[in-house]
Amino acid sequence: MPIRIILVGPPGVGKGTQAALLEERLGAKQLSSGVIFRSEIEAETDLGQLAKSYIDRGELVPNGITIQMMVKRLRTDDVRQRGFVLDGFPRTVRQAEALSEELDKEGIPLDAVVSLEVDDEIVVERLSGRIGCTKCGEIYHAITKPPKREGICDKCNSPLFVREDDKPETIRERLRVFHENTRPVIDYYAGKGKLSRIDANQAPEAVYASIATALGEA
Ligand code: AP5
Ligand code: MG
Repeated sequence: MPIRIILVGPPGVGKGTQAALLEERLGAKQLSSGVIFRSEIEAETDLGQLAKSYIDRGELVPNGITIQMMVKRLRTDDVRQRGFVLDGFPRTVRQAEALSEELDKEGIPLDAVVSLEVDDEIVVERLSGRIGCTKCGEIYHAITKPPKREGICDKCNSPLFVREDDKPETIRERLRVFHENTRPVIDYYAGKGKLSRIDANQAPEAVYASIATALGEA
């Protein structure tokens, strides 16, 4: 059975880290709005150019564009067959409503909505040390998960990079935007009785185990 799960949480809480583990182990397709935007930026598309002007400031890309981009991916055969792990979407109540409409229309059930929770100081620590692979997207941390060779991906030998929006002032703005726009999304799913809250201030494997338990109970 395909798994369909939403990961919601502040910047740097570990959504990408957990989504990659869920994809690897359960086969569901990771759909990260941030990763998709960054690949559009890399490919220098119109969408990428527009998204960059928001992302570099730590602001949200407008709902209309974001919803259209994600719905298009949810409708692909691959995602229909494998299920999905949504990472970074929905991030506003408008996006959550649009997603509910789409899933209802298609008769697709959600298995779980997982809220990954940590304090803001931990987010700052995690993001200040993050390094990512330019090619395969593997995520490292300078102190807690360093690559074996500095600046090189263990998995695919490509160069590693630091994200533009991981500057301290942009991290603070992303956190502000999270509290203002995305906390209401957590309340939205709690109100529907769909939410599992998980303490993300644990090692990645322990967080994964908690998500697996939430999925089992869903
Ligand atoms: P996006 O790319 O989604 O960024 P984000 O939400 O800010 O989240 P991050 O990717 O920074 O963190 P993460 O939770 O994935 O953590 P990670 O696993 O990397 O979005 C970027 C921008 O795109 C937004 O600001 C916005 O402009 C735009 N955008 C995206 N989606 C949008 C939407 N729906 N609507 C509008 N605009 C949108 O981990 C972080 C670090 O911590 C790593 O170094 C990792 O190794 C480490 N780590 C992870 N887990 C643990 C752990 N358990 N213990 C210790 N360290 C850990
Ligand atoms: Mg991420």
